[in-house]
Amino acid sequence: MTEIRKGLAGVVVDSTAISKVNPETNSLLYRGYPVQQLAERASFEEVAWLLWHGELPNPDELAGFVALERSLRPLDDRIVAVLDTLPVTAHPMDLVRTAVSALGTLDPTLLEKGGDIDRTLNEQRAIALFARIPTVVASIQRRRRGQQPIAPRDDLDYSSNFLWMTFGEVPPAVVVDAFRVSMVLYAEHSFNASTFAARVITSTLADLYSAVTGAIGALKGPLHGGANEAVMHVFDEIGEADRAEEWLDSALAEKRKIMGFGHRVYKNGDSRVPTMKTALDTLVEHYDRADLADLYTRLESAMEDRKQIKPNLDYPSGPAYALMGFETELFTPLFVAARITGWTAHIMEQLEANALIRPLSEYVGPDEREV
Ligand code: ACO
Repeated sequence: MTEIRKGLAGVVVDSTAISKVNPETNSLLYRGYPVQQLAERASFEEVAWLLWHGELPNPDELAGFVALERSLRPLDDRIVAVLDTLPVTAHPMDLVRTAVSALGTLDPTLLEKGGDIDRTLNEQRAIALFARIPTVVASIQRRRRGQQPIAPRDDLDYSSNFLWMTFGEVPPAVVVDAFRVSMVLYAEHSFNASTFAARVITSTLADLYSAVTGAIGALKGPLHGGANEAVMHVFDEIGEADRAEEWLDSALAEKRKIMGFGHRVYKNGDSRVPTMKTALDTLVEHYDRADLADLYTRLESAMEDRKQIKPNLDYPSGPAYALMGFETELFTPLFVAARITGWTAHIMEQLEANALIRPLSEYVGPDEREV
C-alpha cells in the first residue's frame, strides 16, 4: 500500500536556511534570530535584507538598500493604467496579483538568455516588488474609497510611507510601530502553502514574477492568508463580546472552521501571536476600543474551552489592521506586502539547488478499458 500524506502533512520536502519553525518550543527564527527580537529591535527593511542575504545589513548596506528601495516606490504609468482599467470593486487580492503579473511584462531582463533566473537580477526584482507592492496596495485602498492615489514619499521609512500613501497622513508612532511589527511577523514562515507554491513554480525554472503571482493566488484562500480578512468578518458577524459564546456554539454546531484559529504546524499556539497581541493592545488603548479587546478575549477563551484550539497570527492582525483604518478586504494584500520578502528569499534559495518538484499520485480511477 502506498502511504498517502494528505496535504503533505508532516512531510519534509526540502531543506531551507531561511527560517526555522519549532512547534515544540513555539519559536520562529529568521536566519537564526528569534522573530520576537526582530519585531522589537529591527526595521522591516533590515528584516527583508536579512531574509535575502542571511545576515543583518551593516550601516552602509542598509543605507544603500534604503535609498534604492525609496527610489523604486513609484509605479510605471502602464501599471497605473492597468489598475485604472480594472473594476474598483474587484477583490484587492486579485488586483495585487494582476499588478505583480503586469510588472513582469515590464521587465526586459526576463527576455535575456538566462536573465529570468539570474540571482543578481532576482535580487533586484525582489527589491523592486518590495518597494512597489505597497504603492499598489495603498492605491487600491484609496480607489475603493473614491480617493485619488497618493504618490510615495522618499523621506519616509517603509511603514510610515505605506500608511501615508494609504491615509494621506503619517499616524502617531504607536500605529506606525504596530504596522512595522505586523510586517516583520508576516515576513516569513518556511514551507507554508504560498511559499511552497512559489517554490514549485520556481522549480520549473519559470521566472520570479510567475512564482510570486502564483504565491499570491495561494495566499488568498481563507485557510491561509485570507484568514486575516475572514477574522474580521467573524468579528462583524458576532458584533459584541456578549454574543461570542453563543455565536461560537452555533458556528461549531454547523461544523464551521473558526477563522484565525488553528495551525498546521503549531498545535500549542502560534509563536507570533503574543508579539502581535501586544501590538494590538497598544492600538486598542490608542483608539480607546476596549469593546474590540473584549470580543477578542471572549472568543479566544470560548474557543479554548470548546475546542482547545489556539489563535494564529491572523487573529490579532485582523483587528489590528481594522483599527489602523484599513478596509477588511485589504488585510490579505498587507500580508502580501510582508511575505514578498520570504517568498523571494525562497525563490532564490530554490534556484541555488534546484530540482523539479514533481510528486507522485496513487491512481484510483477505472481500470484500463476500451473506448
Ligand atoms: N475551527 C474549528 N475547528 C478547527 C479549526 C478551526 N479553526 N482548526 C482546526 N480545527 C479542528 C478540525 O475541525 C479538526 O477536527 P476533527 O479532527 O474533529 O475533524 C482538527 O481540528 C484538525 O484540523 P485540520 O483542519 O485537520 O488541521 P490542519 O492542520 O489541516 O489545518 C488550518 C490547519 C487549515 C490552519 C485549520 O486550523 C483552519 O482551517 N484554521 C482556520 C483558517 C485559518 O485561520 N488559517 C490561517 C492559518 S495561519 C496563517 O496563514 C498565518
